Amino acid sequence: MTEQTATLPAAAHTGGDIANTRKVFIKTYGCQMNVYDSVRMGDALASEGYVTTDAMEEADLVLLNTCHIREKAAEKVYSALGRLREMKKERRANGGELMIGVAGCVAQAEGEEILRRAPAVDVVIGPQTYHRLPQALRRARSGERVIETDYAVEDKFEHLPKTDKAQIRARGVTAFLTVQEGCDKFCTFCVVPYTRGSEISRPLSQIIDEAQRLVDAGVREITLLGQNVNAWHGAGPNGESWGLGDLLYRLAEIRGLARLRYTTSHPRDMDDRLIEAHRDLRALMPYLHLPVQAGSDRILKAMNRRHTGEEYLRLIERIRSARPDIALSGDFIVGFPGETDADFEDTLRLVETVRYAQAFSFKYSTRPGTPGADLGSQVADAVKAERLERLQALLLRQQHEFAEACIGRTIDILLEKPGRMPGQLIGRSPWLQSVNVDAASSQIGDIISVRIVGTGPNSLFAERIER
Ligand code: 5AD
Ligand code: SF4
Repeated sequence: MTEQTATLPAAAHTGGDIANTRKVFIKTYGCQMNVYDSVRMGDALASEGYVTTDAMEEADLVLLNTCHIREKAAEKVYSALGRLREMKKERRANGGELMIGVAGCVAQAEGEEILRRAPAVDVVIGPQTYHRLPQALRRARSGERVIETDYAVEDKFEHLPKTDKAQIRARGVTAFLTVQEGCDKFCTFCVVPYTRGSEISRPLSQIIDEAQRLVDAGVREITLLGQNVNAWHGAGPNGESWGLGDLLYRLAEIRGLARLRYTTSHPRDMDDRLIEAHRDLRALMPYLHLPVQAGSDRILKAMNRRHTGEEYLRLIERIRSARPDIALSGDFIVGFPGETDADFEDTLRLVETVRYAQAFSFKYSTRPGTPGADLGSQVADAVKAERLERLQALLLRQQHEFAEACIGRTIDILLEKPGRMPGQLIGRSPWLQSVNVDAASSQIGDIISVRIVGTGPNSLFAERIER
């Protein structure tokens, strides 16, 4: 999934007596699933009388929702905790209190180690136990240092409070919805199967219910989330076996839900039904994040991806023939142990063949506990850096080419939020690009037709066209 660092929008939770309400500052690292989890943790804390704030200084509780996917993640968390420890000391010196919680994948991976190394931390809570957060905080307030890192048997989503309409509305017209969590693929570089546990799909009724609530509150676009979202499976209304494709057909029936997306997918789980959904569903946006990681069959095998470069390319062809205007996005790792120059050239060749609209690329980083960490023949950092630079230059060129090709086209955009200039809004193209256009803020949530007239570094410029 795409990485980002974000804080929750302030005042997403309103109501209550401000003088008595406690404030929580949630810092989110990593992927969209963490963003979603942070929102849900905020909701769970709202029922405990907390409001979210984006000013850390005024918070009674600071919660770090952490990511463990690549190097130095844990170290970054420890240094943030060092700063928070100072803040806690100052607070105490002034007769106040500050609680500190660590959530997310570093919490899961480090566990007890966090309590040992960071004495200021009150609560350590792994991704599968967020529904126990309010209870954990109550225990912490009575002096206990709490650690919750089970892979709980109960369903955390079933136990998390539902978000109310005003809260959903405050967050805008696009929303994430987690439908699947965890991973059974065990790519040899990846910590996710260890930090998020094994693959779990949320039941259909829960998903439909949450999607309907989002739409009732004004959401127009939903992105379904999962570490392996296309491995989602569940029972259909008559007990039949459903996959993500079936789920998308069902969600597309929700009136008022204009757009659907999903991320992140594994090539092995792109089945026929899902490809048909791309062909048939107008609401399903023509954009697919389908990481391949590398182009060399030898490296793909060592990564335990369980497909070849050629199989990936054939799959892309099938998807493109179902939905010719689909934009593709990917993730790449350079410098996996044993990667030679020739292997890396295979990656470049694959990228040339696919032509990506968007991509994320990383130097391989050894994750303790993963099989990749035990492989000999680690690649020197300078070699990784040089390969990454070449790959990124190519991907960036493709990204620009894709944006340039949009100039002159008429497309529909979903108006999402205020733009940089008064009288401007930012909309989202079907291909996930930000589009600047003149429009009134009362139009947020509308889908309008525009002509693309120019490109900026990270966005497009458009003119409205009258229908
Ligand atoms: N080193 C570098 N990149 C990694 N990713 C996952 N694990 C590692 C690692 N150990 C990348 C993959 C994945 C994305 C979310 O992060 O490309 O698709
Ligand atoms: Fe990690 Fe591979 Fe699972 Fe993706 S499919 S979460 S890269 S183990």
